[in-house]
Amino acid sequence: MTDDSKEEFDFRKFFPDEDVRKIFAKVFDRSAISAVHSLASKGYFDVLEYVISTGKEAHVFRAVDAAGHFRAVKIYKIETTDFKHMSKYLHGDVRFQGIKNNRRDLIYAWTRKEFKNLLLLNKAGVRAPLPIAFKNNVLVMEFVGENGQASPVLKEKPAKDIEKVHAALVDFMARMLFKVELVHGDLSEYNLLNKGEEIVLIDCGQAVLNSHPLAKTFFERDIANISKYLNNNGFKITKEALTEEIRSKKSLFKK
Ligand SMILES: Nc1ncnc2c1ncn2[C@@H]1O[C@H](COP(=O)(O)OP(=O)(O)O)[C@@H](O)[C@H]1O
Ligand SMILES: [Mg+2]
Repeated sequence: MTDDSKEEFDFRKFFPDEDVRKIFAKVFDRSAISAVHSLASKGYFDVLEYVISTGKEAHVFRAVDAAGHFRAVKIYKIETTDFKHMSKYLHGDVRFQGIKNNRRDLIYAWTRKEFKNLLLLNKAGVRAPLPIAFKNNVLVMEFVGENGQASPVLKEKPAKDIEKVHAALVDFMARMLFKVELVHGDLSEYNLLNKGEEIVLIDCGQAVLNSHPLAKTFFERDIANISKYLNNNGFKITKEALTEEIRSKKSLFKK
């Protein structure tokens, strides 16, 4: 699809839901539509069914493919995203050197970064959505949900067993750090889904390699957020004890 072939795109076919059409008319430009078209023509999904989440930087949709499999499609906004904030996480990550410092290139790189981070997390055995494809600012991934309903975040649906959450988070953080040398950087009850008591880590665009100059700061912030969450939910642990527990897993997960 070329830039001037917007007419070819059948909005009603790809976006049967009126709210989705409105979002596309208002929020996304031709490049996002073109990316949706291209990903759909490759069979990654048939239809963007409805919006699951409208965030500050991205919208997340449920999509479905020809075989009836659900997908989550995350589309980053070009105009309103704080790309200066993104720049801090991209520059300094050796995987993304030489990215041009303009809004569009940074957001495309961010989308690619989230895809790559999800691949690494899955490789490390962390429960995170499997990435499926990406193009421009559009990322297609495994839909995390039950009976077609997207799983709620831990903030909305606290886990029944906080000890299990603690164990899962120690395991995730140790696998990330030691198996694939990644720091999430935005770890909190807002970026963990509760899928029938299974904890799933999402929102991985900002995750950086441990060699990033700010990796230690981001790791400490993750520790602070997680220990605060655990303490508020009945699992008493200091930041130091949580860090020590993660470090004690090193020999288990060292590459
Ligand atoms: N793979 C997924 N499967 C199901 N729902 C998802 C998935 N990824 C994101 N979501 C939903 O979209 C919301 C926003 O996603 P997130 O990646 O945290 O983006 P942001 O916080 O930047 O808006 C999540 O809280 C969750 O409700
Ligand atoms: Mg989030």
